[in-house]
Amino acid sequence: MTKKKYDIKPAHGKLGVMLVGLGAVTTTFIAGVEIIRKGLKKPVGCQAWMGTARLGSRMENRFVKLGDLVPLSGPEDMVFAAWDIFPDNAYEAALKAGVLRHDDLLQVKEELSALKPLKGAFDRDFVKNLDGNHVKPGTRRQLTEALRADIREFKKSVDRVVVVWAASTEVYCEPTGIHGSIDAFEKALDADDRNISPSLLYAYAALMENVPFANGAPNLTVDAPVMVELAQKNRVPISGKDFKTGQTLMKTIIAPGIKNRLLGISGWFSTNILGNRDGEVLDDPESFKSKEVSKAGVLDTICSKETFPELYGDLYHKIRINYYPPRGDSKEGWDNIDIFGWLDYPMQIKINFLCRDSILAAPIVADLAVFMDLAARAGFKGIQEWLSFFYKSPQTAEGVYAEHDLHIQKIKFKNTLRHMAGEELITHLGLEYYETE
Ligand SMILES: NC(=O)c1ccc[n+]([C@@H]2O[C@H](COP(=O)([O-])OP(=O)(O)OC[C@H]3O[C@@H](n4cnc5c(N)ncnc54)[C@H](O)[C@@H]3O)[C@@H](O)[C@H]2O)c1
Repeated sequence: MTKKKYDIKPAHGKLGVMLVGLGAVTTTFIAGVEIIRKGLKKPVGCQAWMGTARLGSRMENRFVKLGDLVPLSGPEDMVFAAWDIFPDNAYEAALKAGVLRHDDLLQVKEELSALKPLKGAFDRDFVKNLDGNHVKPGTRRQLTEALRADIREFKKSVDRVVVVWAASTEVYCEPTGIHGSIDAFEKALDADDRNISPSLLYAYAALMENVPFANGAPNLTVDAPVMVELAQKNRVPISGKDFKTGQTLMKTIIAPGIKNRLLGISGWFSTNILGNRDGEVLDDPESFKSKEVSKAGVLDTICSKETFPELYGDLYHKIRINYYPPRGDSKEGWDNIDIFGWLDYPMQIKINFLCRDSILAAPIVADLAVFMDLAARAGFKGIQEWLSFFYKSPQTAEGVYAEHDLHIQKIKFKNTLRHMAGEELITHLGLEYYETE
């Protein structure tokens, strides 16, 4: 038994989940939680509310629900608030997103209609294909003050708050001087520097209000050095980035299997069609660049060219996203993987994934809200790498490469929960079953 290290505060009371963006993913998440708490459906895909962990030796056959291992908020504890740049309430937004069937939405129409978005902080320079009218006025400094006021107001009605960014993907930005330190960032805020993206305003507001922030999109947000510094200083958990769904989820399931069998890969071509608003935003090359960078990193570490030059030295990785309105949220993805085996003989794998992105993303929003809140109650601060299981492009400490293998990420995730609870970590060594004395 490891020594219990963390004095985790109980998950009593209401967990306020503030969502940036009231679009396909977040309305699917909120409607799902409402449907689940009415007992009409089970939380399929959600670790917090369905997951289990083995404790102790395999001979003990002891499995517990994650919520019995560490104190977690349940669906009945959640209260929602959202910001968006369009005024549609959650019911109208869900209808437009077209993810859930109308009969499912009707069951929670009252709850969804009651959720009206707060005005968003927006700048079209960062999301070219959208033009919202439900936006806050003011300079960047004034916008952070207004966002902070929204958070403080919401705090009055709940016991704890987390913020999850699931708004449209912003254009690709490399961190520059203004992102380098709290001091430089605050000076840039006061100068109303147009290089500060809206997502950074939300992140800054949350961290200044000591509220954990999870980034579900691929754009630069809490991974900017200034936010890492601020999270450390204010002792707030942050995590990111880009919910792990769709083709990248499949990639992080399949690539480790190919690598583990020491098969080579000469090429991996991924293309898909999708027709939702996310697809429309990603039709802009600058927003697509954020997504491409986030998706591309996955194979680099699982199939390392440095460790296995003979297997992956020539791996050609190509990713395409095609906006195709007739499909709406029902995306179709194709992967062609050219692999080779013994004596370099070539083989091919074809994957045709008819997935529903928001159906895969919604439980991740629930998990991130619950586990980021747990992290805060356990006194964790800064980057929460143990939540990399949920992200396409996991945020890590400087100099530490990101682990992309879903199976390793799952072990890390559950061992962190065991560690928090003072339970023995599971190493899968298992020699003890065969020791005779
Ligand atoms: N669907 C998935 O499976 C998935 C997976 C990984 C990441 N993501 C990311 O999650 C995000 C949301 O995806 P979605 O499919 O729900 O998209 P969506 O277009 O349906 O919803 C995004 C919402 O954000 C709003 N918005 C844009 N800028 C805003 C701002 N500055 N402040 C407040 N609201 C703003 C938009 O008006 C829109 O309603 C995207 O960035 C997407 O890339 C989605």
